[in-house]
Order: sequence, then C-alpha cells, then structure tokens
Amino acid sequence: MVAAYRGRASAEATPVCEDPWALGLAGAEGEALSRRWDAHSPSMELWVGLRTRYLDDTVTRALDRGMRQVVILGAGLDTRAARLRRPGARFFEVDQPASQADKRERLSRFASYPIEAATFVPCDFERDDFVQLLEAAGLDRSAPSCFVWEGVVYYLREAAARSTLERLASEFDPGSLLVFDYLNSKMAKSSPRLRQEDRAMKGIIEELGEPMQFGIDDPTPLMSECGYRFVRTVSFDELALQYTGTYARERFFRFQAVGLASASESLSLW
Ligand SMILES: C[S@@+](CC[C@H](N)C(=O)[O-])C[C@H]1O[C@@H](n2cnc3c(N)ncnc32)[C@H](O)[C@@H]1O
Repeated sequence: MVAAYRGRASAEATPVCEDPWALGLAGAEGEALSRRWDAHSPSMELWVGLRTRYLDDTVTRALDRGMRQVVILGAGLDTRAARLRRPGARFFEVDQPASQADKRERLSRFASYPIEAATFVPCDFERDDFVQLLEAAGLDRSAPSCFVWEGVVYYLREAAARSTLERLASEFDPGSLLVFDYLNSKMAKSSPRLRQEDRAMKGIIEELGEPMQFGIDDPTPLMSECGYRFVRTVSFDELALQYTGTYARERFFRFQAVGLASASESLSLW
C-alpha cells in the first residue's frame, strides 16, 4: 500500500518524489488498498510522497557530506538503494526474511532494476541481533552510517523502539545519522478524541495485521534518554509548504512528522 502511494505520488503531473518502480512493485493489490484508504485519509498520498522526498534528500545530503553507508531498517519495497546509489557507497536493507524474499521475487520482474545496489540483511528484529547481522554483512561500525527508519516506529512496542534507538546511538559510529517518521500518541493509541475517519484508518491497518502501538508526542526527552544529543523534527505541514509551496489547514493530517537525530553530529546545517 505504501509503495502504491509512493508510485501514485511519483506519477502526478508535478511529482513531489520520484520512484519509477513503486507502482509496479505495489501491483494491483497495493493500489487497491491505497484506493480503499483514500476514503478515510485523502492526504495520505501527499504524506507518503513528502516523506519519501525528504528522506531521499536527507540520504543524498549524507552521501554528499561523505557518508558511505546507508542502512534501511524495515525496508519493505523501498527502492532507495537503486535510486540513490553512487560509486563507493553501500546500501544495506534490513527486513524480515519473508518480506525480502517477496521483494526479490517482485524485483525480478523488472529488467531495469539493479538488484545488486543493496546488500540484503535478513533479520527479524524481535528475535535476531540486527547489529551483529549488519556487521556480518560488511557494515563498518567505526565509520558513520545514515540510518533510514521509515514507516516502522509506530508499529513497534515502545520497549522495542527504545531499544533500537539506544543501540543505533551507542553501537555505531557517533557521527551516524538517523532519520525516521513518527506519529503522535493521539493517532498511535486510540484516543477518544480521534476523528471518525482517523479511527477508520487505524481499523484498516489493524485488519491488515499491523496495529499501531507507539506514538511520540515530544521526541526530545525520548531521544535524549536513548543517547542522542542532536535532534530536529519537521512536521507534515512544514514539508508540504517546503516541497509544494502550499499549506492547507483543512488537510486533517497533522499527526505525523519526521525526526533527524545524531549522537554527535550537529544538525544545524542539515
Ligand atoms: C509499513 S512497512 C514500511 C516499509 C518501508 N520502510 C516503506 O516505508 O515503504 C514496515 C516494514 O517493517 C518490517 N518489519 C516489521 N516487523 C519486523 C520485524 N520484527 N523484523 C524485521 N522487519 C520487520 C516489515 O517487513 C515491513 O517491511
């Protein structure tokens, strides 16, 4: 469904992001799911497009600034490795073995897709040690990495999210950068103050078997407790204004944001 939204956002007359493979990867099933969701959340396509674009721009800046390792945590049908690759840089995709097998099968249908752009790291975050698996796959923990954690945090239990944040801050080069999107707790936990459309949207996700569990209202204390010194956040509205030049108050989609964090890299120039 997310890939379908990414593909739809890429196919608009004035696209906010560019993913030429997303619609094909999503297939008819993904597109149908996205259309079903539209009724409850008309701004979802814009949000997915904006977050893809902002994360793409952040990874590109990280590469421009000399980082040579990009790690996509919970990669799903992410195609950044193919879209943003450049000589000397390595992309690692961490995901459940079954999800990776499904992705490889889908990718094999595209003659144009450079599958070697990513090193696949099969890992179940609930059972396996992702740090060890990344190292075994060739990641150099003494060099800075850019970690992308897109569309995942809110599906985790709080303890699992905190433990991953702590490990990312303490077990890799401190100059590493983490970029992730998050939801506030009003959305992630079923607040009685949620609009009916939002409640319906949560219902669809629960039906798909991935209930939302963890919301972040104030990232600063959380990130500080997990070992980060530098934190920046960008709201949906700010991204919409930045990338589309418009800000529409009636969008009713203001519970989601993107965070940037580093243990030692000042983010003032990011
Ligand atoms: C909603 S998808 C997001 C995919 C992608 N990052 C994107 O934005 O399109 C969540 C991803 O997290 C992965 N995931 C969920 N639980 C996991 C676990 N226990 N171990 C590893 N990956 C997991 C799923 O396989 C899926 O690819």
